[in-house]
Amino acid sequence: MPDALIDAAREVRETAYAPYSGFRVGAAIRAASGRIYRGCNVENVAFPEGTCAEAGAIAAMVAGGDTALAAICVIADSPSPVPPCGGCRQKLAEFGGPDVPVLLATTSGQVLETTIGALLPGRFGTGHMANAAP
Ligand code: THU
Repeated sequence: MPDALIDAAREVRETAYAPYSGFRVGAAIRAASGRIYRGCNVENVAFPEGTCAEAGAIAAMVAGGDTALAAICVIADSPSPVPPCGGCRQKLAEFGGPDVPVLLATTSGQVLETTIGALLPGRFGTGHMANAAP
C-alpha cells in the first residue's frame, strides 16, 4: 500500500511546473476513504504566488469530497528525503491527526517515514481560540 502512494507521488511529480527553481515535487494523499489524491508544485513568476505539491494534493482531496488524511507521501529529486515546508505542515495538520504517517521520498528510492505530529509539535489548533468571540 505505501508503494501505491509513492508511485502516485512519483508520477504526479512529472507534471510539476517549476521553471524558476527547477525543483519538481510530487505529493500523494491517501484519504480515510481510501481514495488517492495528487498534487505537484506550481510556481509563478511572482515567486511568493507559487504553491507547494502538498497544497495541491490537499486542494484535490477537498475538491474530491474528502477531508480526512490517512497518509501522505512527498517526493523530490533531493540528496535526502524532502520534508514539507512549515506552511504545509500546518496545512496537513488541518486534515490529519498527529499519528498520520508522512512518507518522505527521493526519486532515487530513499523513503523516510515520520508523522504529522513529529513534523509539527505544538500545533496551533482550535483550542487556542477558546477565549475568542467570533
Ligand atoms: N516545494 C514543495 O512543493 N513542497 C515542499 O515540501 C518543499 C518545497 C516546492 C516549492 C517550490 O516550487 C520549490 O519546491 C522550491 O522551493
